[in-house]
Amino acid sequence: ADVHHYDFFLQEANFTKMCSTKSMLTVNGSFPGPTIQARKGDTIFVNVINQGTYGVTIHWHGVKQPRNPWSDGPENVTQCPIGPGTNFTYEVILSDEEGTLWWHAHSDWTRATVHGAIVIIPAAGTTYPFPMPYEEQTIVLASWFKGDVMAMISTSIETGASPTQADGYTINGEPGDLYDCSNETTYRLSVEYDKTYLLRIVNAAMNEEQFFGIANHSLTVVAQDAAYIKPINTTYIMITPGQTMDVLFTANQTLSHFYMAASPYHDSVLTFPNSTATAIVQYEGNYTAPSSPFFPTLPAYNDIGAAQKFTNSVKSLANEEYPINVPENINTRIYIAVSLNALRCPNSSCDTATGDRTAASLNNPPFFYNFTGDVSNVSFYTAQGTKARMIDYGEAVEIVYQGTNLGAASSHPMHLHGFSFYLVGTGSGNFNNVTDPGHYNLVDPPEVNTINLPKNGWAAIRFVADNPGVWFMHCHIERHATWGMDTVLIVKNGTTPDTSMLPRPAYMPPCS
Ligand code: C2O
Ligand code: CU
Repeated sequence: ADVHHYDFFLQEANFTKMCSTKSMLTVNGSFPGPTIQARKGDTIFVNVINQGTYGVTIHWHGVKQPRNPWSDGPENVTQCPIGPGTNFTYEVILSDEEGTLWWHAHSDWTRATVHGAIVIIPAAGTTYPFPMPYEEQTIVLASWFKGDVMAMISTSIETGASPTQADGYTINGEPGDLYDCSNETTYRLSVEYDKTYLLRIVNAAMNEEQFFGIANHSLTVVAQDAAYIKPINTTYIMITPGQTMDVLFTANQTLSHFYMAASPYHDSVLTFPNSTATAIVQYEGNYTAPSSPFFPTLPAYNDIGAAQKFTNSVKSLANEEYPINVPENINTRIYIAVSLNALRCPNSSCDTATGDRTAASLNNPPFFYNFTGDVSNVSFYTAQGTKARMIDYGEAVEIVYQGTNLGAASSHPMHLHGFSFYLVGTGSGNFNNVTDPGHYNLVDPPEVNTINLPKNGWAAIRFVADNPGVWFMHCHIERHATWGMDTVLIVKNGTTPDTSMLPRPAYMPPCS
């Protein structure tokens, strides 16, 4: 395995999009930021040099970081922020991940502009479990805010108001032809007839699950969250914030210009910006460009059926070469109530607390409740402070996430650091611990780091707690995380040095 070195300069840069200009924090002045390239099992040192004006951390989303929480990155969970004028070198240790992951800032909402892809190709001498594509391209989906994201989020934390919605979406940094002042810079992917391309798609959007498709081209999804899946042939994908998907398509059309498009999927009644980012797939050769490229047919923004149909079709490749390792028997089942849009009251004296869109939580408050903003417009208060959950090294764990909304519900992309895990079951309504486990998929469940907890439903995941450390767990919709939908799992050290955390580096950023 190889060792790679990257320098990430955190610096402000000016960007003009959708007819307005702002200065924003970037890595090396680019949006999206640089792609990290490695092979399976490599180690990557990333020296983060903060030339900005506030503290920031970086997280390597989906990298398990065996025994190494010190470089995982969530601010004030595993480290203090890297202060302006200082630097910190992350040691990103790859193990069995293969495919696409991503990195992003993990301090407040800085990830809106500070993120990029991680491409992990097979180890030397091995290859993909599908025919070699002619070319590969990362496709990073993101949100665009015309205003300053950090100012926006501090206002919202001070006032308790809902954070501002995005002004639009981007594909590889560009909003595309459907937005004002944008068609000069629309991202273009040039393709050759009859060749097959591998798109490495990252949903880095702050708050929106997305449908994505390419006009007139069918997609074959071959990996999710850096693990191979049974190929899915489809015209669209649904990808939640935090997820990554590897998708093949063949340039088999006889015309020249086709849109690829990403537009938000939203299953709740909340209003949201209904807008679509586009890019152009352009065939090389002698074509007359059409007056307008073909447009993909994506499901309607609220088509829950289409979203779930896609999500439910994902199965691990699970063959001899890529075996799965899902625990058949578990030692511990943890129930986690995930609520939003209403306070789940800790006792009967506040049973009437319905309909306040004030806070989100993992587990019923006050025991696991962590809203740190000012809730002056709320008539019921819950205790603050998240109770971390301790797990013994080597335990086979099942977590059942239960959506418990009292008011308007939505789905939640739940993400756990330090692990990939198997999504063994999912369903609507309340989880039934007698009947539901009988229907689990223990044969080819997807191995992922982020799941889509369906609106008003449940999802069950399993993993072996073989990675000692402190691991953040949260909803990857940033508004929900801001409202408190986050907690921590602590996996204790095992009894031997190689089942224990690596020593804490002496050069961790100081906590001022
Ligand atoms: Cu993309 Cu805490 O994660
Ligand atoms: Cu959520």
